[in-house]
Amino acid sequence: MTSNPSILDNFGRPINYLRLAVTDRCNLRCFYCMPEKGMKFSPRKDLLSYEEMLFLLEAASEIGINKVRITGGEPFLKRDMVYFLEEASKIKGLKKIAITTNGVLTHQYIDDLIRLNIKSINLSLDTLDPVRFYDITRKNVFPQVMETLDALLKNEFDLKINAVLMYGKNTDDLPSLLELSKNNLLNLRFIEEMPFNGSGRFDNDNHWTYKKILEEIKVLHPTIQKLTDAPHSTSLNYQVPGYKGSVGIIPAWSRTFCGSCNRLRVTAKGMLKTCLYDNGGISLKQLLSNGASKKEIQKVIIESTQNRHKNGFDAEKDRGSNRPISESMSAIGG
Ligand code: 5AD
Ligand code: SF4
Repeated sequence: MTSNPSILDNFGRPINYLRLAVTDRCNLRCFYCMPEKGMKFSPRKDLLSYEEMLFLLEAASEIGINKVRITGGEPFLKRDMVYFLEEASKIKGLKKIAITTNGVLTHQYIDDLIRLNIKSINLSLDTLDPVRFYDITRKNVFPQVMETLDALLKNEFDLKINAVLMYGKNTDDLPSLLELSKNNLLNLRFIEEMPFNGSGRFDNDNHWTYKKILEEIKVLHPTIQKLTDAPHSTSLNYQVPGYKGSVGIIPAWSRTFCGSCNRLRVTAKGMLKTCLYDNGGISLKQLLSNGASKKEIQKVIIESTQNRHKNGFDAEKDRGSNRPISESMSAIGG
């Protein structure tokens, strides 16, 4: 393989970003992601092993994937996560490793992350109110998440906060969350809720769309300014004049960003997905279990990029009416 050629998909979109779910397990039960009780996680033997993940990352890095996001479930629930991150950071072609975490355990690993120069962290945080935190996540661990937030800020991580806004749950947390961007250098992102919650339940009528979220922000801060978004950004970014940080809105359900989508996903069970909304994808786990070579894996990845859906609506349509969206985000990779 020549070094780091970039892949163009069947719509001419460059593909250089992989989101890798390292587990489907989680120590929270965020109600927009999974049911409180009875969540069925995959048997461990069905999940990718570290060896398989590292092999996959190496293969992907040689065909132009230069950024990986480690996600889950909760990555830090996995034993020896630091070992995995250490090995992943040795892969030459990977210019950037980022992590999405719920912050419950993350404060224990701050020094490791600094040592490995993994400074891009997305922290899931939907409220600053401990009681509401329990209501949303069904776990009493708010102080631990705050400890992580403090440590990330103190150590000047490149920090994004992910807040899913849900009517009847936490839309009135928008002002206090937004204020986090006043004195802190961080990017606060309000995310449209999607029906990837383990049941498919969805309140279409009261859904807070990105337009609604922007309107609400503008009521609070009429002078808010639009920032230039990074080329493949999924968020529309703004800044309140005088604030240190910025605020982004992610149209995760409205799907306005598909035209510049540069990403692939690998689920905890090793399914390669070319769209969040698609119907499963190809089992890399099976190929790896059968001893596939790096070249074979690379071929499968490249081929998958030549059959991508144009956007998340086409991908959703292709699932057919007998398979509506209902899977938990933790199984796909948040
Ligand atoms: N809708 C929108 N975002 C979701 N996430 C998880 N489930 C959903 C959903 N149903 C996002 C959250 C969390 C990340 C892991 O995945 O932003 O921060
Ligand atoms: Fe866990 Fe993240 Fe899902 Fe919450 S959103 S239950 S933290 S995987």
